Amino acid sequence: MSSTSMRTHMCGELRAEHIGQTVSLTGWVGRRREHGEHLAFVDLRDHSGITQCVINDDVDVRSEYVLRVTGVVRARPEGTINENLPTGEIEIGDCEVEILRKAVPPPFPIDHRADDVDENIRLQYRYLDLRRERMQKNIRVRSAVNGAMRTAMDRQGFVEVETPMLVPSTPEGAREFLVPSRKEPGSFYALPQSPQLFKQLLMVGGVDRYYQIARCLRDEDLRADRQYEFMQLDMEMSFVGQDDVLDAVSEAVLDATEAVTGERPPPIERMTWHTAMDVYGIDKPDLRFGMQLVELTEVFASTEFKAFSSAVAADGGSIKGIRVPGAADEYGRNQLDKLTDKAKSLGAKGLVWLKVTDDGFDSPVAKFISDAETAAIKERTEAETGDLILIVADEWMTTCEVLGTLRNDLGRPPVHQGPYAFVWVVEFPLFVGVDKETGRPKPGHHPFTTPHPDDVDKIETDPLSVRSIAYDLVLNGWELGSGSIRIHEPELQARVFKALGISDEEAARKFGFFLNPFEYGAPPHGGFAVGIDRLTAILAGEENIREVIAYPKTQSGADPMTNAPVEGDPKQLAELGLKVLPKID
Ligand code: AMO
Ligand code: AMP
Repeated sequence: MSSTSMRTHMCGELRAEHIGQTVSLTGWVGRRREHGEHLAFVDLRDHSGITQCVINDDVDVRSEYVLRVTGVVRARPEGTINENLPTGEIEIGDCEVEILRKAVPPPFPIDHRADDVDENIRLQYRYLDLRRERMQKNIRVRSAVNGAMRTAMDRQGFVEVETPMLVPSTPEGAREFLVPSRKEPGSFYALPQSPQLFKQLLMVGGVDRYYQIARCLRDEDLRADRQYEFMQLDMEMSFVGQDDVLDAVSEAVLDATEAVTGERPPPIERMTWHTAMDVYGIDKPDLRFGMQLVELTEVFASTEFKAFSSAVAADGGSIKGIRVPGAADEYGRNQLDKLTDKAKSLGAKGLVWLKVTDDGFDSPVAKFISDAETAAIKERTEAETGDLILIVADEWMTTCEVLGTLRNDLGRPPVHQGPYAFVWVVEFPLFVGVDKETGRPKPGHHPFTTPHPDDVDKIETDPLSVRSIAYDLVLNGWELGSGSIRIHEPELQARVFKALGISDEEAARKFGFFLNPFEYGAPPHGGFAVGIDRLTAILAGEENIREVIAYPKTQSGADPMTNAPVEGDPKQLAELGLKVLPKID
């Protein structure tokens, strides 16, 4: 498979068993070392590895020249075998060298040393960066992930359908990229934030099981796990409930993981959103480490400590703690003050810390904590001498979120460090929080998500307590994907719109093209989208999705290789009926 009309083998392929064969290799010159006796060693490199070629030193080959080398595979002399190199037992002798293309010296070394080069430079010369082992590996991990997921979807009877890139605005929630229309100046297309509307209409269209490796575009602030352009394994299926969707997606992501790591993770467990918040303080719990949030409200039922007694008395108040194993000595006053400041910046009124000693707690508030409370805290947190306990008392959500953040800050391993801890988080709330401007609840996932059948009666009376059939897939504390069972009955959709403060007129205007077709017979349906960049990054052992994207944008949204974005050409702008206003600082 690796041979072509120009080569017989790849540079990483030759072993002792090939000794004596005449071979042709093609690739780039890595290192060149002079070797006396009019000889030079040249490391020839392609994506598969490197092979040492012994050439005549009067041949002028330099770094990154493109060569075709033909010669005989021979054993390296005793004492010169390189155990660290898969091809380290052999070299190519009697070499005939063809220079296919000369090269100017590269701006950085094409090896691991480029990891320390300014990322802007790496991206400016991405085509050189890509020649490196790390990037070659990442790109191939990505291809394996895509391939495995595609095969899994095909095997399960899903049909690949492409959806358009020029679309109207969609209600996915992020800022959109607009594309001006030349035929209708002043009108715009949006680039799709996801194929959401189109995939649901495919269900009305009787496709039954759809998938797509879909490009999505969102004008969001960029971060380690966010790019403007990203890829989803997007899917939708008809006549299903939540289990059908979760099973189909599990199959695809477990196959992808196995394809990359060689090992299939265990079946993915489920956790309700409420448990995730209550026990891990976050809706994307990292299950690779302990430090769970421990319920302490009851322990302080009759406390004299005011910060705690008011939380006990308050409706919906909650006191919880986390145990940081062995951290009592590590954390001095300064650091504990910083943790307290962090807790306050996250919305807590304060943070109680307790260092566990042989004789009780070392803490500024130890005097407010009775012996019985001390014993109960120790028992519930399973604390031992030398541990640090952090406690927050507040309204339930705040207590959970603050301790969840501290738990991650203090205990979380790097995202790629094994094992691969997948978890389904189910029963997300239908609405989250209240829009400050309108006073109305905001959609948790999107406005087409079906409410939990047991909670439908509360849409009007207690919307914030309504659960939904929406679920996320989480891996090592990263949100890998989201989905839901959709509303397919117009009456229920109208009630949800009403709760969201979307009038009939607005719904007709914004979503009419999408919802009217449902009148022609929408099947019950649901779906999901997996973030491929995130899954690939974790499987490739990378902290930033930029490392697994061939041509990513920088944090500030630029592409240093092409200089995009660039100013509009006046002629083009005129054609589009656009006029650019001066920049406002
Ligand atoms: P959602 O908006 O949650 O759901 O997106 C699904 C997954 O896509 C990935 N993702 C991103 N990856 C990189 N950069 C970004 N800017 C970015 N934004 C999202 C994440 C996320 O979990 N249409 C719905 C799915 C559905 O309901 O079927 C959707 O797009 O991994
Ligand atoms: P105060 O009574 O405000 O002086 O707080 C005494 C200690 O309790 C300080 O260390 C505060 O950070 C902490 N504290 C105050 N309120 C809370 C709370 N709601 N939850 C946890 N700790 C608190």
